[in-house]
Amino acid sequence: MNALIPSFENSGATGDLPVILLTGASGYVGGRLLPELLKQPIRVRCLARDSVRLRSRIPENVELVQGDVLDAASLTAALAGVDTAYYLVHLMSGSESKNFEQQDRQAAENFAKAASAAGVHRIIYLGGLGDDSDPKLSPHLRSRHEVGQILRESGVETIEFRASLVIGAGSLSFDLVQSLTDRLPVMLCPKWLTTPTQPIAVDDVLAYLLAAKELPAGKSRIVEIGGEDVVTYEDLIHEYAAQKGLRRWLISVPVLTPWLSSLWLALVTPSSFEVGRHLIEGLKNPTVVRDPLAKTLFPIKPMGVAESMRIALLPREPTATSENQPHPQHAAG
Ligand SMILES: NC(=O)c1ccc[n+]([C@@H]2O[C@H](COP(=O)([O-])OP(=O)(O)OC[C@H]3O[C@@H](n4cnc5c(N)ncnc54)[C@H](OP(=O)(O)O)[C@@H]3O)[C@@H](O)[C@H]2O)c1
Repeated sequence: MNALIPSFENSGATGDLPVILLTGASGYVGGRLLPELLKQPIRVRCLARDSVRLRSRIPENVELVQGDVLDAASLTAALAGVDTAYYLVHLMSGSESKNFEQQDRQAAENFAKAASAAGVHRIIYLGGLGDDSDPKLSPHLRSRHEVGQILRESGVETIEFRASLVIGAGSLSFDLVQSLTDRLPVMLCPKWLTTPTQPIAVDDVLAYLLAAKELPAGKSRIVEIGGEDVVTYEDLIHEYAAQKGLRRWLISVPVLTPWLSSLWLALVTPSSFEVGRHLIEGLKNPTVVRDPLAKTLFPIKPMGVAESMRIALLPREPTATSENQPHPQHAAG
C-alpha cells in the first residue's frame, strides 16, 4: 500500500454510531486508550503511518486509515465524518527529533485545518504541564503548548490536557526513572532532580481522556491534570527504589548541565541521546497543576505516586497495541 494514499479498512456495519478518530494508537498513551474506547458504543478509527504494522496488533473491528499528520492530504479521509478526534501524536521520536518543534507545529496546523474542514466537533489533545510565562520553559514543553494553541485556534472545540510525567509500564519518562535506579547504586544528581513535579498514573490519564469525550459542547479549554502528590524527581527515585527493595545513594552535584546529564542518561537508559536531551531540558521546569479546573469538570480523583508506581510495577497485561511495546524511541511528556 502506498504510505501516502489514505485508505479505509474494515469500515461499515456500525450504523449511526459516532466516529472517534484515534491518532497515536501505536504510541504509549494511544495504545492504552484504544482498548478502553473499544468498550464503548462508538466506531473507532485509527490513523497510522504504518497501517500494516498496526493492523496486525489491533482488533479486526477497528477502522484503519493510512496517514501522516505531516501529509495534509492524508488527513481528509481520516477525519471524514469524525465526531471526536484524539490528537496523541508526538514527533519527538526517531529521526524527526532534531527539528521536532517545526515538525510538531506543521503537524498541528495540518490537523487543525483538516479537522475544521471536516466539521469535527471536538479535539482532545494531551500535552505537557509547565508555565507559559516562564522564559526558561524548555523547547519541548513550549512546543507541546504551541501544538495545543494551534488546535484551540482551529475553531474546533479543543480540550487540551496538560500532564507531567505519566507513571505506567512502558512510559519513557517512567522507564528513565526505572533504568537509572536499577542500574546505578550511587547517583551524582544534578540540580533538576529537586524540581517539583506532579506525576499522574496512566489509568488516571485515560480516565480524563475518556471523560472529555462526554463533556457537553462548550468552549476550548486547557485542563491541567496531575496525581495526588507534588514530588521531586529525587523522591520518585527513592519511591521506586523502596518499592523494589533497592538501596540507593543520591549525591548532589549542581554543575551537571542538561547536556552532560543527557549524555549520562543515554549511557544508562534505553532513551536516545536526542530524546533524552529534550526530556532533560524539560526537567528543570516545574510541572505542577496550578489551575483546579480538572476538579470542577471531572469527578476523577487521581491516585498518588506510591499507588501509581505499585500498579506500574505489576506484571504487564497485554494491550491492544502492546506487541511491540514499549516503543524504545517513543518520548514522553
Ligand atoms: N508518556 C508520557 O509520559 C506523557 C506525559 C505527558 C504528556 N504526554 C503527551 O501524550 C501524547 C502522547 O504521548 P506518548 O508518550 O503516547 O507518545 P509516543 O509513545 O511517542 O507516541 C507517539 C505517537 O505519535 C505517532 N506519530 C509520530 N509521528 C507521526 C506522524 N507524522 N503522523 C502520524 N502519527 C505520528 C507515533 O506513531 P508511529 O508508530 O508512526 O511512530 C506514535 O503512535 C503526547 O502529546 C505527549 O506530549 C505524554
